[in-house]
Amino acid sequence: MTDALKLDGDTLIFADDQPPPVAPVAPVALAQWKILIVDDEEEVHRLTRWVLADFRFGDRGIEFLSAYSRVEAEGILRRETDIAIVLLDVVMEEDDAGLRLAHFIREDLDNAFVRIVLRTGQPGQAPEHEVIADYDINDYKAKTELTTQKLFTTVTTALRGYRDIMTIEASRKGLEHILDASSSLFEKRSMTQFIEGVVLQIQSLLHNHTGAVLCSLRANRVHPDDYEIVAASGLYSDKVGQVVGEVLPDAIIADISEAYRRRTNVFRDDRCAFFFQTRNYEASVVYVHGTEALHDVDRKLMEVFCSKIAIGFDNVYLFDQLAEAQKAIVYALARLAEHKDQETGDHVRRVETLSDNITSELLARRCFPELSESELVKHIGLASILHDVGKVGIPDAILQKPGRLDPDERAVIERHAGIGQSILDDAGHMVQGMNYLNVAAEIAGSHHEKFDGSGYPRGLSGDAIPLSGRIVAVADVFDALVSSRPYKKPWSRADAIAYIRGESGRHFDPLVVEAFLAVAEPKV
Ligand code: C2E
Ligand code: SIN
Ligand code: SIN
Ligand code: SIN
Ligand code: FE
Ligand code: FE
Repeated sequence: MTDALKLDGDTLIFADDQPPPVAPVAPVALAQWKILIVDDEEEVHRLTRWVLADFRFGDRGIEFLSAYSRVEAEGILRRETDIAIVLLDVVMEEDDAGLRLAHFIREDLDNAFVRIVLRTGQPGQAPEHEVIADYDINDYKAKTELTTQKLFTTVTTALRGYRDIMTIEASRKGLEHILDASSSLFEKRSMTQFIEGVVLQIQSLLHNHTGAVLCSLRANRVHPDDYEIVAASGLYSDKVGQVVGEVLPDAIIADISEAYRRRTNVFRDDRCAFFFQTRNYEASVVYVHGTEALHDVDRKLMEVFCSKIAIGFDNVYLFDQLAEAQKAIVYALARLAEHKDQETGDHVRRVETLSDNITSELLARRCFPELSESELVKHIGLASILHDVGKVGIPDAILQKPGRLDPDERAVIERHAGIGQSILDDAGHMVQGMNYLNVAAEIAGSHHEKFDGSGYPRGLSGDAIPLSGRIVAVADVFDALVSSRPYKKPWSRADAIAYIRGESGRHFDPLVVEAFLAVAEPKV
């Protein structure tokens, strides 16, 4: 998980990757504004502190830091990254010490946030206009001007500027974070994973949150007992799958109900409920419980984030629907071929599982470097289901012949590889983005090739046979051997394994056989 975005007053801090505290903690006092006085005259420090002693801005007082030379100031500025204002003398250990320090702040520290107010003893030392612009020096005062009223005005203006800059910066970082979070959400393709991701991201967006729940309502009902908790974190993490009305405290039920009823976000001091509307659920609410009041910036972030979540929900839902539709079509096609072949649905499922397992084993063994970057890992199982789909083009009389095939019949049956490949190639070209169809075409066309070049339809050998075909060949033959066919009785598992082992380097790729043996042999 990423660092939590922590808004401490107006200062953005990247908190460590720690779980949020579960027990509520007392709200922390707002930090004070830090003002650094840089001057080689003690009197200036004393006077400034005295004049500003009771100064407050935005409910926060002032913490003074003092430096008596450029070098000392540089040390303090390196250490204290949240200084709001530097009241800066021009001439100290060098005639241009103040300007050198301004340069150091903006260029070396790359700190564009701290406000710099130059104070000089003599008007003749006024820096050039370019210098003021280049170093973003925010004010320029003669020390004689520092009467009580003038200093108040100067510091107020500078703090207002600093506060606004920090607020914008916090929003900017927050938006960046939301964009990051949203894109990782969109990668999650299953609804369960997606919902868990949402709750995790909320945890990283809001500091000090003690718990979050995401609840959804499927039908057009508004009773609390109808909201199901689909994901949860922190205090509520054990409540997934239960209904809001039964497991959450009354105050929370009331917030969530109100959000649903009014179809709006509900904010309380230490908690809030975000409403969002999606296609697949009637409505959803993310409820977040914090340890202290949410800052305005946090609220805005959550609002933006929740609008993104709604889009993400819809995307994931449509993707899930599409994937389900694809699977249904694949199974239907495979059943069609099986029907002619008098096989049961179990054959293709077993070939699917075995192909997946062999592929995972090959991946783990790093046998084929290309496998780790290939789409094959994702698609081979589903694609393997269609390896014999070309049998739809073979006459039943041949397929269901109880005895051995004569050479002419054999030639006809061998055409199932090419037929399958061309059906699936055509389908793959018609439908964009269904990569598994391309893999399926490759498998259909190559699952009867043999490693030694004696297979069909092309007589390819070794690496010239697509890896997908080399994998499915092993899975297909193994399952054909242990199954009953019109032309043969089932073999025992041990005999079939021995046969595959014996064909290593002849019918099958030796590396694929090794992976097969690792997943197929009973563990000792
Ligand atoms: P299938 O039944 O799914 O068999 C797939 C592959 O498993 C076969 O590819 C073959 O490599 C292997 N296999 C299946 N049974 C045996 C067996 O008893 N002994 C050995 N050594 N290997 C076996 P193949 O030979 O290219 O056959 C492709 C398809 O042609 C078979 O798919 C099946 O539908 C059909 N077929 C093959 N031989 C016969 C046969 O003698 N009679 C009939 N009716 N159909 C056959
Ligand atoms: C965070 O990690 O909380 C903030 C990250 C960012 O703003 O990019
Ligand atoms: C001093 O060095 O403090 C006097 C000159 C100045 O304030 O710029
Ligand atoms: C393919 O090129 O995808 C299949 C090759 C083959 O038919 O063996
Ligand atoms: Fe086949
Ligand atoms: Fe088969």
